[in-house]
Amino acid sequence: MHHIHLDQCASTQEYLKNYLEEGSFQEVIISCSEQTDGKGRQGKSWIQGSHSLAFSFSLKPNPIVSLTSLEIGVLISMFFKSKFSLDIKLKWPNDLMVQDFKKCGGILCQTYEKYLLVGVGINLGEIDFSPKDLSIEIASLPIIGNQKDLPQEIYNYILQNRLSPEMTRSSWESLCAHLNREVVIENERGFFMGIGESGELLLKTNLGIKKIFSGSLFLNPTS
Ligand code: BTN
Repeated sequence: MHHIHLDQCASTQEYLKNYLEEGSFQEVIISCSEQTDGKGRQGKSWIQGSHSLAFSFSLKPNPIVSLTSLEIGVLISMFFKSKFSLDIKLKWPNDLMVQDFKKCGGILCQTYEKYLLVGVGINLGEIDFSPKDLSIEIASLPIIGNQKDLPQEIYNYILQNRLSPEMTRSSWESLCAHLNREVVIENERGFFMGIGESGELLLKTNLGIKKIFSGSLFLNPTS
């Protein structure tokens, strides 16, 4: 595995994309202490706190490619539980949650040629930045490691503990922060019943079970 730690960069995701070469698959992780143009999901930006983790790595996809980002969420949660006894719950599709529904991190998965590029941001320590998206409450984990070594440990853990599609789905549901709760997604309201074979959201509405493949999920504030 090849690890590059940068004091500063625009985005580890973009850096990794430029770094990877044609040829055989390489295990590469890029971590960074200060990201100046971090990319979030759905074209949003991602702001990194002074002690927070920002890293991107290459990965071979899960046999069901669309389950890969859910698999990474499960493995990150398992890592923090086994190493630090910290409980991280998961919000569909790619958010890391603590303290009853506050976001402490997020996962961005992109395909690039033969690679899957996984970007992870995790808030550690004081939130010393102004979040852009005020619709989401944020939180952070204690400072339990540094911005260079912790990402490498997490990447190693992921590489050594890959999950089958079946394990991914069952573990994801057991770590889900909103299973059976009433949620709103893309103007649809219903109960979150779990995930389907491709990781899609199963929403119980008045009209039956609806499959939703993308979007931003909120707890229904009126429930
Ligand atoms: C989300 O929107 O919740 C996903 C956020 C992913 C942010 C990480 S930080 C490291 C990597 N580099 C980026 O530019 N983005 C990801």
